[in-house]
Amino acid sequence: MLLGDSFHPGGEDTTRRLADLSTVGPGSHVLDVACGAGNTTYFLADEFGAKATGIDLSSTLLQRATQNRQSGSVRLRPTFSQARVENLPFSDNSFDVVFCECALCTFPYPEKALSEFLRVLSPGGRLAVSDIVINRTVPPALQTLLAHSLCIAGAHSVGGYESMIAAAGFNRLTTRMDSQVMFEMVDRIERRLKLGSVLAELQNIKNDAALPSAKETLSISRNFIESGGTGYALFTAWK
Ligand SMILES: C[S@@+](CC[C@H](N)C(=O)[O-])C[C@H]1O[C@@H](n2cnc3c(N)ncnc32)[C@H](O)[C@@H]1O
Repeated sequence: MLLGDSFHPGGEDTTRRLADLSTVGPGSHVLDVACGAGNTTYFLADEFGAKATGIDLSSTLLQRATQNRQSGSVRLRPTFSQARVENLPFSDNSFDVVFCECALCTFPYPEKALSEFLRVLSPGGRLAVSDIVINRTVPPALQTLLAHSLCIAGAHSVGGYESMIAAAGFNRLTTRMDSQVMFEMVDRIERRLKLGSVLAELQNIKNDAALPSAKETLSISRNFIESGGTGYALFTAWK
């Protein structure tokens, strides 16, 4: 993967901020939806003492999530299961916090996902979402496979996310911007591209001939961030 095992901009710093904002604490039952390789799920258990559960649709990533840390020591070992966000395998009112990092923009039915998040949250439960936002039309050069890997291509505007979250029935919605982390993400991807370690993972980029276009996409991405075309937002809301 382009970003290593943590797939969202800002890494653990952003996760810590979002966990503080959504008041994750010892014993909080947190559902990390679209958990990927489980970095955040473990982090919330390790650093915050949360009882964390991760779900993702990718069996490959879930395998990584469970294998990665078998020897690690965590006070509360997270649990993982394979599921789609549109149909969560949990009863109503099961969690204190639903965490969704850099994933809402990848869901085909984000509204359905948000109504599931509301359903599984207990009354007074918190939604914690971070995601890439788009402030104006994405340049055609960024509507590529690589841009999809950067999540820029599928992102919504700040207002778009806010409307979806409110329409799902959440209250007390707060939005905070942290767009600096986007540069760090592009730098991280560039370092990995230089190492050549990710080329094989990009289905349509199978040889060095494609490298200049990948580099070009990153450069256009950087300009798009710099000019305010895209950024990163943290949303918290209450059930
Ligand atoms: C950009 S990654 C973010 C992973 C993780 N939250 C993180 O920040 O490191 C997006 C994740 O969403 C998952 N995903 C996409 N659509 C999904 C769906 N409909 N149901 C469950 N997971 C989904 C993907 O498998 C992937 O792991």
